[in-house]
Amino acid sequence: MENYDVIVVGASASGLMCAIEAGKRGRRVLVLDHAEKSCKKILISGGGRCNFTNLHISAENYISNNPHFCKSALSRYSQWDFIAMIEAYNIAYHERDHGQLFCNESARDIRDMLETESRLAGVNIRLETTIEKIEKQPTGFLLETSPCGFKSKSPNTSTHNASNKPLNNQSGKTHNKIQCESLVIATGGLSIPKMGATPFGYKVADQFDIKVCQPVAGLVPFTLHDKDKAHFASLSGIAVDCRATTANMSFRENLLFTHRGLSGPVMLQLSSYWQPGESLHINLLPDIDLLEELNKLKQKNSRQQVKTVLGHFLPKRLVIALVEDALLEQSVANLSTRQCELVANAIQDWQIQPNSTEGYRTAEVTVGGVDTDALSSKTLESKAVNGLYFIGEVVDVTGWLGGYNFQWAWASGWCAGQYV
Ligand code: FDA
Repeated sequence: MENYDVIVVGASASGLMCAIEAGKRGRRVLVLDHAEKSCKKILISGGGRCNFTNLHISAENYISNNPHFCKSALSRYSQWDFIAMIEAYNIAYHERDHGQLFCNESARDIRDMLETESRLAGVNIRLETTIEKIEKQPTGFLLETSPCGFKSKSPNTSTHNASNKPLNNQSGKTHNKIQCESLVIATGGLSIPKMGATPFGYKVADQFDIKVCQPVAGLVPFTLHDKDKAHFASLSGIAVDCRATTANMSFRENLLFTHRGLSGPVMLQLSSYWQPGESLHINLLPDIDLLEELNKLKQKNSRQQVKTVLGHFLPKRLVIALVEDALLEQSVANLSTRQCELVANAIQDWQIQPNSTEGYRTAEVTVGGVDTDALSSKTLESKAVNGLYFIGEVVDVTGWLGGYNFQWAWASGWCAGQYV
């Protein structure tokens, strides 16, 4: 029987950060992951350059049933702490819009840094390992895992097992039993199952009667109803700056029409707040008052056609898709007051009801997760189960697009690492 002080399940952003901190404190740490390599999501993030944090982190950039929960961790391990770590490793980075920080070269730099830090802290990382069973013991936990490199065929579908006998997997080798004092669940959310995402963390929560807030895909493109999809199909590839609004949130960024629906940063941001059935309100000219502009032209008795006027501001194909033909062909001088309003509303309060989202297949995050009421905001430990911790995306804390999710992963991992 192997024995560790700490087992972390999930060898990625939050899990490795936690393991490094615990290792630095002299704890004997084992990190388990079913994937064949660590940090897979880090490697694909930010188009391969990893948007690793943001200069303007605040609790307002996060969605959670308890909006105050993330404050403690974010203030104790801030973006400046992570930036200091990056700089200590001479990783070159740059700032993009809205304070987003990206690696100049490659996301691999972040992965390499975390792996080096893990090594220096004496952390043992074991990949291609499936956790078959978790049992609470008086002073910690007993885990049964597949032997390293012999991942079970249907990995992690269950953390429960009726039998207490050692299990055999398809390798024919007996499962390992490993004891630990502290068990940290850092298995992330459900986005991109192809990358190895599983509901493992939620199942562990379930096993210990810890509530999970309904997970739903976030930071994900919208799909459209068939009629709208056909109507806007020809706009695929067009990108425009806009302000888009749901019932309780509004963002200003680029909107991208795709052959499936609506994407671009503004739609990804809104998707995390959107409720099925809700319409989006989109202002495609957020810097001007179009009604006022039309009225001014009308007063000047302008003979310009509506489509020509709108074509000064927006791609023609988009204008044609949004404004009635009969109005487009008219000269501004001939528009009635009501018609001016109709044109302005079509562009500045375009309302569209998405059919759905593309779901976990393309989502960047999972909104929802392990209920923060069940955890200490200081240590990330379960209030009911001593020694059990949940960190990173598996927790009901979801950041906006722009480096906020990694900052939550670093911060929650770092905080738990001080206590495990
Ligand atoms: P993460 O998902 O990173 O890691 C979970 C680990 O647990 C994985 O190694 C996985 O293999 C392992 N695991 C899962 N189930 C298991 C099981 N049953 N048994 C054993 N191991 C298991 N955020 C950001 O701030 N900036 C960005 O640029 C991007 N870009 C981005 C792009 C794309 C395409 C995606 C999908 C996501 C992003 N994100 C992002 C979000 C960010 O990647 C995410 O929030 C963090 O990686 C979360 O870190 P965690 O450590 O919590 O989970």
